[in-house]
Amino acid sequence: MTDANRETPYYIYDTALFRHTIDVALKEASKIPGSQIRFAIKSNNNSTLIRIAAEAGLGADCVSGAEVARAIECGVPADKIVFAGVGKTDKEITLAVKNGIECFNIESVAELEVVNEIALNLGMTANVAFRINPNVDAHTHANITTGLNENKFGISMDDMVDVVKRAIALPAINYKGLHFHIGSQVLEFSCFKALSERINQLQDQLEAAGITETEIINVGGGLGIDYQDPDQNPVPDFAGYFAAYSDSLKLRPHQTVRFELGRSLCGQCGCLISKCVYVKEGKTKKFAILDSGMTDLIRPALYDAHHKIVNLTGDAEGRAKAVYDVVGPICESSDVFDKDIELSEVKRGDLIAIKSAGAYGRVMASEYNLRTLPPEIIK
Ligand code: LLP
Repeated sequence: MTDANRETPYYIYDTALFRHTIDVALKEASKIPGSQIRFAIKSNNNSTLIRIAAEAGLGADCVSGAEVARAIECGVPADKIVFAGVGKTDKEITLAVKNGIECFNIESVAELEVVNEIALNLGMTANVAFRINPNVDAHTHANITTGLNENKFGISMDDMVDVVKRAIALPAINYKGLHFHIGSQVLEFSCFKALSERINQLQDQLEAAGITETEIINVGGGLGIDYQDPDQNPVPDFAGYFAAYSDSLKLRPHQTVRFELGRSLCGQCGCLISKCVYVKEGKTKKFAILDSGMTDLIRPALYDAHHKIVNLTGDAEGRAKAVYDVVGPICESSDVFDKDIELSEVKRGDLIAIKSAGAYGRVMASEYNLRTLPPEIIK
């Protein structure tokens, strides 16, 4: 899977695993009649991966005009594209309305009014769902929790009757449904059950107020992956995930559900491959200094995230183990991939793989320190 002569660092994507993961997800999702999966392309916007997802029949969950354009370019039908985000600009809204996307996930009344106005001026209509803040704790890292009252996302459940009535009254708006997302890297299925219960409550409230037009229930994404042991668990427990919803979500006969999966589809399909530039013997520690850093993969620095690291060269040669801090070359103390981990003895020039980097890896890379963005290799 790696080529010792290729310039590092680079990302490598295992498309066979990506296809297989999608197949498993689709098979399990099909147990919920009418359900559809949108690939959250914020997690990985590589065109080859988006094309594979589109060919398998997935839609796209987008959070910028550029993502909407990328999805269309990669063959995702417009009627399977949803567009979310708290700060959509007029230009982005115009692009999405003109393309006739499936749905805007609207985050505020102010945004609803702007979408109506833009669609009206274009002589078109826009389908909308409302992002609701369900105030459900996702039991994940604070920086990737989104469904609590203190987060900036969504509209409070208490305001929904008035908001939906307003939407129904607007001439260029088609009210389609409700949208939720509690957070990312969620591993406790009870959180998805808690979300379903909130959705059931909201549906009862809306119906009691005479609102029966809700067709789509979009529960967002969030299913986590196994960062500790990716080789053992390359595909997440989709059976358990979809069962959590089918057991607890009370869909009305005319309603269908949408899932916006990012990490669970592509996270295990990507690796960041680097070389060790130096091994440094500190006073108390040994450092393996890589040619990749937080500019290439920021998750450890930003979320204290764990990614499994292996010394490909050392493992191939069957070297004895030693303990290292694995760090990057950037002038920041947080440029550390992991501390005190056991690797087969590291030597200058060894190829080092950082695993489970297919989601929120390359897409969050930066050019800080005037570094080059890492290329993406498709396997
Ligand atoms: N839907 C909405 C509305 C979202 O905000 C997100 C992710 C998703 C779907 C996809 O979630 P997933 O299935 O991938 O968990 N950069 C962070 C993760 C940020 C997630 C943002 N929203 C990380 O590296 O962990």
